[in-house]
Amino acid sequence: MHLTREEEKLYEGEYGWACQVSMKILVRLGDLFGATQLIHIRSAHLSGVSYKTLGDAPIDFLEALAESCGKVQVPCTLNPSSFDPDYLAKKYSEERKEKQSRIVGLYEKMGIKPTLTCTPYYLEKPRQGWHLAWAESSAAVYANSVLGAWTNREGGPSALAAALVGKTPNYGVHQAENRRASVVIKVESRLTNETEFGALGIHVGKLLKDKIPVFEELPSPTSEDLKQLGAGMASSGMTSMFHFEKLREKSGLETASIEAKDVKNAIEGLSTTHETPDLVFIGCPHCSLNEVRKVAQAVEGKKVGSGTELWVCTSRYVKGKAEKYVKIIEGAGGHVLCDACAVVTWIKDLGIEVVMTNSAKTAYYAPTLNGVDVTLAPLSECVRSACHG
Ligand code: F3S
Repeated sequence: MHLTREEEKLYEGEYGWACQVSMKILVRLGDLFGATQLIHIRSAHLSGVSYKTLGDAPIDFLEALAESCGKVQVPCTLNPSSFDPDYLAKKYSEERKEKQSRIVGLYEKMGIKPTLTCTPYYLEKPRQGWHLAWAESSAAVYANSVLGAWTNREGGPSALAAALVGKTPNYGVHQAENRRASVVIKVESRLTNETEFGALGIHVGKLLKDKIPVFEELPSPTSEDLKQLGAGMASSGMTSMFHFEKLREKSGLETASIEAKDVKNAIEGLSTTHETPDLVFIGCPHCSLNEVRKVAQAVEGKKVGSGTELWVCTSRYVKGKAEKYVKIIEGAGGHVLCDACAVVTWIKDLGIEVVMTNSAKTAYYAPTLNGVDVTLAPLSECVRSACHG
C-alpha cells in the first residue's frame, strides 16, 4: 500500500504511539484486503463500548492510547454502553458502574462524543458519497444502503484506528466497483410490518453471506423498515449493503425469490418461546423519533402489566425531542432508556428469562448473548402482550 511521507512518519512513530499503532492496524488491514492507499474519512463510529460485551481485557489498551495523547481527527460517535444513568445503573454493582464509566471516560479523553447510540445517523446524517469508518454493522449497512455514504463494516479497533488517523484503507465498498449488486432478490410476499422486514433480512443474510443484493418489489418501505432489513442482514451475514431501487441492467445476475412462507418461517425460527415475557423490548436498533411516537400511540390509555417491563431504547438526542411521547410511555409504566439496550446489558441478572421484541436482530442474538428465550412479533403484538387496559 502506498503511504505519503506524512503517513510514513505516523507509521514510524514520529507522532506518538497512539498514531503509530493505529497506522499499523490500518496498513495491516489494507495489505490484507488489497488496498492501494489511505483515504480521508468524514466520521467514525465505534463499537466496543458496553462493559458487558467488552469485558476487562481491552481497557488497558484504551488507557494506553488515551495516555499516549491519542486524539480523534474526525467527528466520532460511540455505540451504546451497558446501562443508562437513571434506571439500569441503579440495579448494578459499583464495580460495573466504575468500569463502564472508565471505558466511556477513556473514549472521551480521545475526543470522542459519548453519544452511546447505535443510530448515530439520527444525530447527524452523513451525506451521499462521504467515506466513513463505521463499526456497528446495522449502522454501516444503513449508511451505505439508505444514506448513500461509503463505509466498510469496521470492527471496533479498526474504526478507532481510522478515527485517530482520520483515514481508512481504500478497499471493499470504498470502491465503486465493489458496491454493485450481484444478486436480484424478488420479494414475492407483501411485507406489512418492521418485524417482517427484519426477518427477511435474517433470511437473506444467511443466503447471501457477503454478496450485495438488490431487492425487487419491496412495497414502498419506510426508512425504519429498511433499518430493520439491514440490521437483520448484518446479523446473519457479512453483507455491507443492499440496493432497493429498480436496476436497469440485470443480465448475468443471480436471482433468488423470497416467498411469504420464508419470512414466516424466519420469524418462527427466531422465536424460541411463546411464554409470557418478563421484558418487552422495542428499540433495536435504537428508535427514531417516529418509532418512539408509534410506541406512545400504541400504549396511550393502557398500563404495563405487573410482572412485565417495557423498555423503549433510543438515543439521548431522540429522547430529548420526544418529550411528550416519553411522558405517555412512562405514564403507562414503560421506560424510555438512553445509552443502552437489552442485548448489551445484564438482563439475566435482573431476573429476565423471556424477552419479547419486534427486532429480528435482538431475536437473533439474545438467546446466545443473553441466555434468554425470545418471542419475535411486531410492535402491535408486543404492546398487547406488555399492557392491559
Ligand atoms: Fe443497537 Fe443494541 Fe440492537 S446496540 S443494534 S439496540 S443490539
